[in-house]
Amino acid sequence: MNRKKIVAGNWKMNGLLNEATVLSQEVVNGVEELNSKEKLNDICKVILCPPFTLLYKVKEYLSNSGVALGAQDMHCEKKGAHTGDVSPLMLKDAGCSYVILGHSERRTDHFETNKVVAQKAQAAYENGLTAIICIGETQQQRENGQTIDVCVNQIMESVPENANADNTIIAYEPIWAIGTGKTPTCDDVEEVHAAIRHALIQKMGKENADKISLLYGGSVKPSNAKEFLSLADVDGALVGGASLNAQDFLAIIKSVL
Ligand code: PGA
Repeated sequence: MNRKKIVAGNWKMNGLLNEATVLSQEVVNGVEELNSKEKLNDICKVILCPPFTLLYKVKEYLSNSGVALGAQDMHCEKKGAHTGDVSPLMLKDAGCSYVILGHSERRTDHFETNKVVAQKAQAAYENGLTAIICIGETQQQRENGQTIDVCVNQIMESVPENANADNTIIAYEPIWAIGTGKTPTCDDVEEVHAAIRHALIQKMGKENADKISLLYGGSVKPSNAKEFLSLADVDGALVGGASLNAQDFLAIIKSVL
């Protein structure tokens, strides 16, 4: 199955207006250059996921570059009395096409369960957003040999029945690899991605499941991106820390060429 690569930058709770302006313009310039020289857009989708406060502004810089905008979370309701929350309609209004859901930092900091993640994903579909649904095991679960069970269970419970390749991307992010500089071996990543693919096939049938993109995330940097991105069934990367540096992020994007 020939799936387009995806490189998404998750800025997390980082970025003030000035920094975001410089960072997004540098990324856009780099991507435009790669588009004209190497037809990057045919091979790879680039997505930037800044914090809510920067969405409108970053959208302006993306203009016709082909770089897409995503948010890092959302509420499942369209509007209402939910102080501090942001709705799918608001994200659409700000120019988003993607939204990261169920990131382990949301699951930990805000006690988000698989059920909540599935509700949010359903709301994303209903409002025309593509959900980037994150899953992954803790260090303890890996040491206990529970990685595959945990990840398959998260797929079964966090991904809605009507998921498809247009509305869903899956990101496998081992929690112990996020922001730590530690990474799983290539064999480990391939093993988990194969199990995720298998779980998706059970859920939605082979034809649908084969089209869904599976990203790897967790300490992806220029020095290891090519290795991960060339693995069987790894369709791209969800990048945290390294997406805050335009040169590093562009180097990761270039590794798909
Ligand atoms: P990291 O974060 O690249 O800084 O490890 C990845 C993520 O949390 O999406």
